[in-house]
Amino acid sequence: MTVMSEEEIAELRNRILSMARSAEANNDPLAWFEDLYQSSEGNDSKIPWSRGEPHQFLVEWTESNSPKGKALIVGSGLGEDAAHLAKLGWDVTAFDISPTAIEWSSRIYDGLNIQWRVENLLDLPEDWIGLWDLVVEVHILQAIPEEVRYPASEKLAPLLAPGGTLICIGLYDYSNEHSEGPPWPLSEAFIHSIGKGLKRIELEVKNRPGDDTDQLRYISIWKR
Ligand SMILES: C[S@@+](CC[C@H](N)C(=O)[O-])C[C@H]1O[C@@H](n2cnc3c(N)ncnc32)[C@H](O)[C@@H]1O
Repeated sequence: MTVMSEEEIAELRNRILSMARSAEANNDPLAWFEDLYQSSEGNDSKIPWSRGEPHQFLVEWTESNSPKGKALIVGSGLGEDAAHLAKLGWDVTAFDISPTAIEWSSRIYDGLNIQWRVENLLDLPEDWIGLWDLVVEVHILQAIPEEVRYPASEKLAPLLAPGGTLICIGLYDYSNEHSEGPPWPLSEAFIHSIGKGLKRIELEVKNRPGDDTDQLRYISIWKR
């Protein structure tokens, strides 16, 4: 990955904020994701959330949980988490609302057996309900505005098969102050609401290696 200067990072951040604001003003608040992937022209340093590697918290979870069945990766971005699970032996389907992101990740991970799909979390295929042994959501709910975040979050729990696991990972809001997102760190009350109807296994709040100490993140896990 290309390393960006502080100035370039600030410029990218401003660009994203402006794209997100105009998408909201046009009543199409999720449209900027596709615009960003398209305008990045295959340069992953222009995708601020792309780390080129799976999320550390997911990696830690997989160290003590062996693969068993069908995994669904929600808003898969450039596919790092999907690839990690596929390499471990999960039967992976990954979806994103952005056709460019899906095409891009399918090229990066060409050799892996992953079903790549363009889908909107708000309107998933009916036959996906109750189908998945593992559902993974990393940094989606925090990246979408509140009016879409609530309905989107309610779509996750019903996807689980009996005995299935839901994992959500993101930024934790400890201050309760309004932030100029995206991203919008998520409150504990909101995080708990995601797993309505499921059995809560864990909510852990911690830093990721390299984070500032006041940048808290969560991993929350439920089972059906
Ligand atoms: C902040 S990025 C995180 C991507 C990836 N999970 C990661 O951690 O690198 C949010 C992703 O969610 C996707 N997304 C946003 N809203 C979505 C929706 N309603 N349905 C599916 N994907 C969505 C975006 O296109 C984008 O790839």
